[in-house]
Amino acid sequence: MKKLILLVVLALTLMAFTACRNNDDRPELIMGTSAGFFPFEFIADHGQGVIGQYAGIDLSLAARIADELGFDIIVHDMEFGGLIPALQGGSIDFIAAGMTIRPDRQESVNFSVPYFTAGQAVVVLQDSGITSMGALEGKIVGAQLATTGEFAITDAQAEGRISFQNIYAFNTAQPGIQDLLSGSIDAFVIDTPVARGFVNNHPDRLVMFNDADFFGLEQFGMAFNKDDTELLAQFNEVLTRLIAEGYVYYLYDYYMENHGHMAN
Ligand code: ARG
Repeated sequence: MKKLILLVVLALTLMAFTACRNNDDRPELIMGTSAGFFPFEFIADHGQGVIGQYAGIDLSLAARIADELGFDIIVHDMEFGGLIPALQGGSIDFIAAGMTIRPDRQESVNFSVPYFTAGQAVVVLQDSGITSMGALEGKIVGAQLATTGEFAITDAQAEGRISFQNIYAFNTAQPGIQDLLSGSIDAFVIDTPVARGFVNNHPDRLVMFNDADFFGLEQFGMAFNKDDTELLAQFNEVLTRLIAEGYVYYLYDYYMENHGHMAN
């Protein structure tokens, strides 16, 4: 009798335990991202994303890698500046957010192999006639808070290379583009592929330009906790192969062609 009770208890515990796991029983990884950055991460139309309601290059890439490694992914969407602290604090397992690999960030996190090369572009109103950074002297320029776009313009101002009337930092890009469209700011600085997405959505109002003297090239990497070198190595192996197969640029073309309109 005692044996039977023990068996029943064991079976019940096992059932309760399985019920807590996700249906396919694969371990879960929490991906930190910051949506509103089409074509890398955005909320999909009708909430039908790649992972939950989220879609984009980073989502497709992470989903593919996780699938090959036998993980499921849960997305935590937050302000861009909160991602590295979240990774260090252990509330997320990795970051995929179009994040530029930078030496100062490398002090806090480990980056994967670079998977995308970009730069900064300047988005302005078509009828402003502004075509270079020099023309933004004395003007109001916006960028996303805690991003390389913001660093580039605040550094230039601090070093006396240019004098803006003001720099506005926005938590996400979309409100910055709204302010540009309404005329409250003169320019918005953001990663080139993302700028292209905004220009595509407002083809008769917005234009963009690059200024190679002002902004350098940047490379995106996924970021991992310094203590989690095992996960980093696993991701790198799959990511390296996917890059070689041209999968990242395939995704870039796919999103630009199929989701360009009204994303972000
Ligand atoms: N590449 C830039 C940076 O690393 C901007 C990234 C913003 N990403 C985002 N998902 N909002 O600072």
